[in-house]
Amino acid sequence: MSLRPTPAESELLARARQLAGRAEGHVSPNPLVGAVVVRDGEVVGEGWHAGPGHSHAEISALAGVTDPRGTTVVCTLEPCSHHGRTPPCTAALLEAGVGRVVIGTLDPLERGRAQGVQVLRRAGVEVAVAEGEDERACRELNSAFITWALTGRPEVTLKLATSLDGKIATASGESQWITGPGSRRRVHRMRAASDAVGVGIGTALADDPRLTARDLEGEVRQPARTVFDSRARLPLDGRLVATADQTPVLVIAGTEAPSARIEALVARGVDVRVLPGTAADRVRGALDLMGERELQSLLVEGGAGLAAVMLQAEVIDRVTWMLAPMVIGGTGAPGAVADPGFATLESAPRVDGIAVERIDDDVAISGRLRPLATLGGD
Ligand SMILES: NC(=O)c1ccc[n+]([C@@H]2O[C@H](COP(=O)([O-])OP(=O)(O)OC[C@H]3O[C@@H](n4cnc5c(N)ncnc54)[C@H](OP(=O)(O)O)[C@@H]3O)[C@@H](O)[C@H]2O)c1
Repeated sequence: MSLRPTPAESELLARARQLAGRAEGHVSPNPLVGAVVVRDGEVVGEGWHAGPGHSHAEISALAGVTDPRGTTVVCTLEPCSHHGRTPPCTAALLEAGVGRVVIGTLDPLERGRAQGVQVLRRAGVEVAVAEGEDERACRELNSAFITWALTGRPEVTLKLATSLDGKIATASGESQWITGPGSRRRVHRMRAASDAVGVGIGTALADDPRLTARDLEGEVRQPARTVFDSRARLPLDGRLVATADQTPVLVIAGTEAPSARIEALVARGVDVRVLPGTAADRVRGALDLMGERELQSLLVEGGAGLAAVMLQAEVIDRVTWMLAPMVIGGTGAPGAVADPGFATLESAPRVDGIAVERIDDDVAISGRLRPLATLGGD
C-alpha cells in the first residue's frame, strides 16, 4: 500500500506551501517549492526555492540543520533527480541521510527521467505522496508550471472587471475605472505573478495601457506584454510601443497585416509575429509560441472581442472576474464577452472551484474553466 502523509505532516505541507509562496512571481520557469525538515515532530529547518540558479527548497531547508540523519523532509513537490542548473536534490537528501520524505505532488518533469520518488525508494528512504486535498493544493500552487510542463502552453487566466450588470465599458467606451483602487492593486500583483499579459487591439486603442506591474513593493518582474492585433494597428506613439525597449511587446498579427505597419513596429523594438488562420488559430499559435519561450502563465485582460475568441477556442484555464457595485445598463454598452456567445445554457462554459473575495467594495470571483492537466496514470 502507498504511504500517505500523517495528519501532522499534512499541516507541515500547508506550511511548506506558505514558504513556497514567498517566491511567487520570481521562480518561472521553475516551480514554486517549499520544504520543512522535522525531527521527532519538531521543525528543525525550513526553506524555499527563490528562483532559477538558487538552491532548491529541500537543500535550503537542510542547510541550517546540524545533523539531518533520520529526519523527515516535507516538500510541496517531488525532489528532482536530474542535473539542471543545480545538482539533483535526491542525491543531497540521500547524502544527508534523511529517513522519510513527504511529497505534496509529483513533478511532471520527473517523468521519463529517473523519477525522484523511485530514486529515494530504491535507496531505502520511506516516501509518502499526498493525495486528496493536500495534493490538490500543491498542484494549484504550481498550476502554471504543471500546465506548461504537460501541454507546452502557458496557463491562461482571463481577468475582467465589470459592473453588476456585466458591462466592461459605457456606450461611449469609458472603462477606467470600473473597479476601485484595491482591485487595481490586485491586478498589478497578478501581472507581476504572470509571465505574460495580453489584450486585444480594441483595448490597446481605447485605453492606451502600459500593461506593466506597478506600485508594488520589492523587486518586480515585468510580464511580456502581448497585443492580439490582426492588422498591426498598434499605435506607434502609444505607451506600449514607447516602452518596448524596456519591457518586451509582442504583437500577434494575421497575414492581412500590411508589411509597412509590421516594419514600423519592428523598427521601434516590437516583436511582431504573423500567424495564419482564424483568430482562434492565431490564439492557439500564440500560446504555442509562448510555451516555446518558457512563458508559463498568460493573464488576458480583455476586451470583449479577445475574451470571446479565447472562450470559443476553449483555451482559458481560469477566470478572475471583478464585480464593481455599479450598474451601467443600456444595450449600447459592451458586455464582457462579445459575439457570438454560447447558444445554449448547456454549451455555456461554467467555472468550477469558485473562490469569492471581497476587495473593498468590489467582489472578485475566481475559479477554473478547465481542469488542471494531469500526468495520467499516476
Ligand atoms: N472592464 C474591463 O475589464 C476591460 C478590459 C479590457 C477592455 N475593456 C474595454 O473594452 C473595450 C475594448 O474591447 P473590444 O472588444 O473592442 O476589443 P478587444 O477585445 O481588446 O480587441 C478585439 C480585437 O482584437 C483583435 N483580435 C482578437 N483576436 C485576435 C487574434 N487571435 N489575433 C489577432 N488579433 C486578434 C481583433 O481585431 P483586429 O481583427 O482588428 O486585429 C479584435 O477585433 C474598450 O472600451 C476597453 O476600454 C474593458
